[in-house]
Amino acid sequence: PVAVRKICCIGAGYVGGPTCAVIALKCPHIQVTIVDLNQSRVDAWNSPDFKLPIYEPGLEDVVRQARGKNLFFSTDVDKGIREADLIFVSVNTPTKKSGVGAGFAADLNYVELATRRIAAVATSSKIVVEKSTVPCRTAESMRTILEANSKNGCRFDILSNPEFLAEGTAIKDLFSPDRVLIGSLQTPEGISACKSLADVYGNWVPQDRVLTVGLWSSELSKLAANAMLAQRISSINALSAICEATGANIDEVAFAVGKDSRVGPKFLKASVGFGGSCFQKDILNLVYLSESLHLPEVAAYWRQVVEMNEYQKRRFSKRVVDTLFNTITGKRIAVLGFAFKADTGDTRESASISLIRDFQSEKAYVNVYDPQVEHSQIWMDLSEASPSMSLDQIKKQVTICPSAMDACKNAEAVVIATEWKEFNNVDWEAIYAGMNKPAFVFDGRLLVDAEKLRKIGFQVTTIGRGERL
Ligand code: NAD
Ligand code: UDX
Repeated sequence: PVAVRKICCIGAGYVGGPTCAVIALKCPHIQVTIVDLNQSRVDAWNSPDFKLPIYEPGLEDVVRQARGKNLFFSTDVDKGIREADLIFVSVNTPTKKSGVGAGFAADLNYVELATRRIAAVATSSKIVVEKSTVPCRTAESMRTILEANSKNGCRFDILSNPEFLAEGTAIKDLFSPDRVLIGSLQTPEGISACKSLADVYGNWVPQDRVLTVGLWSSELSKLAANAMLAQRISSINALSAICEATGANIDEVAFAVGKDSRVGPKFLKASVGFGGSCFQKDILNLVYLSESLHLPEVAAYWRQVVEMNEYQKRRFSKRVVDTLFNTITGKRIAVLGFAFKADTGDTRESASISLIRDFQSEKAYVNVYDPQVEHSQIWMDLSEASPSMSLDQIKKQVTICPSAMDACKNAEAVVIATEWKEFNNVDWEAIYAGMNKPAFVFDGRLLVDAEKLRKIGFQVTTIGRGERL
């Protein structure tokens, strides 16, 4: 196998940035260059005061240790490609918005453009690693493109190495991954390229956690892992609806079910619906794949996981309206949290977006507060969610507030949409004093102590908890 000395990562996003920063930190003998076409993103990675483009606990520390030594960020994609022995392709693969498979299939345009760029500028052999989440057989298409365009006897070996980090815990996940999965062709060359990449991870990941499989198993395993994780959440959320209707308590049910060692306790937290850039996109991708393979029952099975999630979001906003005496017109609602989960500034597919859109269409006023999300991002997401409204119209109804306390002032109801710890530690007595009465709290994250809040005077509604206790 080739001993990797220089790595290039195409795509300096939520995956490429943290993943390759950690490789640089753990492999001081390897030079890592992360390239991106987006100048402002690269500038932020390079900013002298470490104002990085993404918020991720522990990331700044990693970048501080490695940047300028063996970790570099650049917009010179061609140079990055030319110099590297191994190239990660870590570009975005969003759901297609138009054309064949719109609404389901992954848009592979960015992967293809990056692949063609590699073919166009490479002057020596490369190991090309598919890091982006892609449909099965994408590696095959990449290989065809690279081989058809290769020059001067350059060899390209393609590997699949999907990423399993979760946002908010990315650095922890990268430091000690449950597993690293590497897929390759089962030819001598494929196996040798696989060994080269395994040796990079071998600098800090125990050998028994590096799994090597065939290319297509690797690609499918990534979609399967996300589909099965999301399916657990949709299952528990479906049960939360039964709890609300019967007076059972979803926390108790999840605890009891999770005690079965075959089920396990993790990822059974009922919520206002899962968000994030991956779950919905990857399941829809799996649905599309199943349909293309003429497996309609399989497609319908996985599609239901996403439908249950949409139902959960709708159900929650309806419960808010129902509880507030069937109308929220002209009422002020404080939404705490805009990120799709705590410890990230990422808002992609966040449940908050759907909730606020629903409250807007009921003609409520919304105060929103999030400790990490940029204001411009909130405006962009809300505009996209209500395309028939101008930003000025949206701003008449929605206000971004500098703190939870400010957001709750003069509100009728508080909706907890993201499980930021600070929402537990705010002064709820002071919040109560500043609100209109009766004051309502809707906990979409099983975050706060409902009994404590009731003692203060709040009317508390919790996801997965019925009124008939
Ligand atoms: P992202 O949008 O944050 O980053 C992608 C970056 O690639 C962008 O900065 C974009 O400018 C850049 N880019 C696109 N085309 C390019 C090109 N031709 N040349 C150079 N740069 C280019 O996306 P992300 O969240 O990092 O996700 C990347 C991939 O990883 C996706 O396939 C996603 O499904 C997968 N993934 C994401 C997560 C996650 O938690 N976000 C986890 C596992 C896997
Ligand atoms: C997910 C996968 O966990 C990760 O392995 C993959 O690489 C990328 O997709 P991510 O989307 O970053 O990671 O976060 P995750 O922790 O999985 O949460 C996704 C959504 O599910 C969030 O909105 C979260 O709040 C929600 N969730 C999670 C629940 O509602 N209940 C749970 O029990 C767990």
